[in-house]
Amino acid sequence: MLSPQASQIREMFSLIAPRYDLLNHLLSLNVDRRWRRQAASLLADPLQDRQALCLDLCCGTGDLLLEMVKRGCAPIVGSDFSHPMLKLGRQKLASRRLQRRVQLLEADALRLPFPANTFDGLAVAFGLRNLENWADGLEEMWRVLKPQGRVVVLEFSRPSHPVFNWLFQLYFQRVLPGIGKRVSGHGSAYRYLHDSVQEFPDQAQLCRLLTEAGFAEVSFRNLSGGIAALHWGVKNRRPAA
Ligand SMILES: C[S@@+](CC[C@H](N)C(=O)[O-])C[C@H]1O[C@@H](n2cnc3c(N)ncnc32)[C@H](O)[C@@H]1O
Repeated sequence: MLSPQASQIREMFSLIAPRYDLLNHLLSLNVDRRWRRQAASLLADPLQDRQALCLDLCCGTGDLLLEMVKRGCAPIVGSDFSHPMLKLGRQKLASRRLQRRVQLLEADALRLPFPANTFDGLAVAFGLRNLENWADGLEEMWRVLKPQGRVVVLEFSRPSHPVFNWLFQLYFQRVLPGIGKRVSGHGSAYRYLHDSVQEFPDQAQLCRLLTEAGFAEVSFRNLSGGIAALHWGVKNRRPAA
């Protein structure tokens, strides 16, 4: 059972699903495609291994999945709890004849229907921020990864230059919700985007959360001056409590 907050998030993404891709590319001037390519390339090793299994968590309409597919031959699973998002993802996969290589399934990221130690690589793009509890989300990722499996998190973050950060905040707070409202018809979703990014941990805090969840070799790289960041780590044994 989803909590009322998670149900609300699911409803919001389901409502904006038809215009989600268009708005992503429009609002980021297509830079989001490059970010996803960079995220997928961090999973190059498992993706190139036919025996490995990779997961795109909170896969939405599957744009990261498609980048992962391009990077190798490993079978891939995409999971998301929004049916309309997955429906669009299935259409994309079908139009590229990729249904055999990729399985999509409807699931809550906080209660994944996979046994422990299932995946060799796991990526989540713009998904972690939306979970009710980020630490619980990272714990669940840790659980389903095999030992030494790699996690990659792509998320909005904090631009490091103060002036750039100010300009970006202005755009994010004042311009983006207006465009989002016009194109999707759901202004509140794009106000939520701004608010959720404000609340989300910055680069250093997310490194700490990953480490606390039991990931080792945790590191990050800023993208586009820190508008977004890629974090990664490998599943290690949990540190003793
Ligand atoms: C901003 S979209 C990102 C989609 C995709 N990863 C991308 O890069 O475009 C966030 C996605 O996370 C999904 N999501 C949010 N909370 C979730 C949860 N608790 N379980 C599963 N999916 C969730 C939403 O349905 C939505 O498709």
